[in-house]
Amino acid sequence: MSPPSLSPGPGGPRRVRIAERREVAPGHVELLVEDAALARSARAGQFAHVLTPGTLRRPISFSRVDGDRLGLLFRVVGAGTAWLAERRPGEVLDLLAPLGRGFVPPPPGTPLCLVGGGIGIPPLYFAWQQYGHDRPVTVILGARSAAQVVMEDDFRAAGVPVTVTTEDGTRGEAGRVTGPLARWLAREPRGVVWACGPTGMLAAVAAQVPDPRRAWLALEQRMGCGVGACLACVVPGGAGGPPWLRVCSDGPVFRADAVRLAGVEDRDAPA
Ligand SMILES: Cc1cc2nc3c(=O)[nH]c(=O)nc-3n(C[C@H](O)[C@H](O)[C@H](O)COP(=O)(O)OP(=O)(O)OC[C@H]3O[C@@H](n4cnc5c(N)ncnc54)[C@H](O)[C@@H]3O)c2cc1C
Ligand code: FES
Repeated sequence: MSPPSLSPGPGGPRRVRIAERREVAPGHVELLVEDAALARSARAGQFAHVLTPGTLRRPISFSRVDGDRLGLLFRVVGAGTAWLAERRPGEVLDLLAPLGRGFVPPPPGTPLCLVGGGIGIPPLYFAWQQYGHDRPVTVILGARSAAQVVMEDDFRAAGVPVTVTTEDGTRGEAGRVTGPLARWLAREPRGVVWACGPTGMLAAVAAQVPDPRRAWLALEQRMGCGVGACLACVVPGGAGGPPWLRVCSDGPVFRADAVRLAGVEDRDAPA
């Protein structure tokens, strides 16, 4: 049974019990947390702002839904994620969730290509779970090296066509996601692309899709409040829109023409 939420409202604070912990790859942990109301209301592309002691909250996307449980899959990069990786089943996390705006599904039947780079992959598995059943979905996963490819087995177990690229050629095709994406776009000129990963990868994907209305990008920016108040996460807006956008509350998912990625800080993550 899920513990009661402090506030069941969307984006409200919640105390959630960790039901399961998995080490999914070297330096990558997935925690499954229990909260039936959150599992029902969270949308793919939204995130949880997780309280970690001694730091600001840390934003982590939802990686999957499994009954009353939601997944938070993260790479250990610093103090906050290191603390999170030490948590064990039965312990309780303090979340603000669900936050942000998620992916907007295209009409049923529209071919959809999910492009994930490194730790940008997890929200795309959740996206497939929520929106993959009434449209043909193809997945392209990119990482620096085989050890950073996550959730490939989950997609394959679900029967989703997956192409993996690694920059060092240790798994799948040697190179970047742009190679298989170009082939998919040639086959599916009216398809829609959803991408999540480092800013450089998102810019490359946006440049490849001929119609920017057919590309949606999930951005990762350093965050403070997570709810639109502090402006720590702003990025420049695209032509004709607001000059600045808050990744936490206007996004993190944006249509490609709504944001300008030039000059946006890139995470040290693989494309
Ligand atoms: C909307 C959103 C969703 C996210 N979802 C996930 C997810 O599903 N899985 C996951 O592993 N990570 C995700 N992240 C990134 C995650 O929030 C950071 O890795 C985490 O906050 C790092 O905290 P830390 O205390 O461990 O490291 P810190 O000590 O804060 O940082 C360690 C290093 O990483 C760099 N860094 C950390 N976070 C960012 C960032 N957001 N942008 C640029 N550089 C950064 C720092 O500059 C530093 O070099 C997401 C970020 C956002 C904004
Ligand atoms: S993190 Fe405070 S406005 Fe986005």
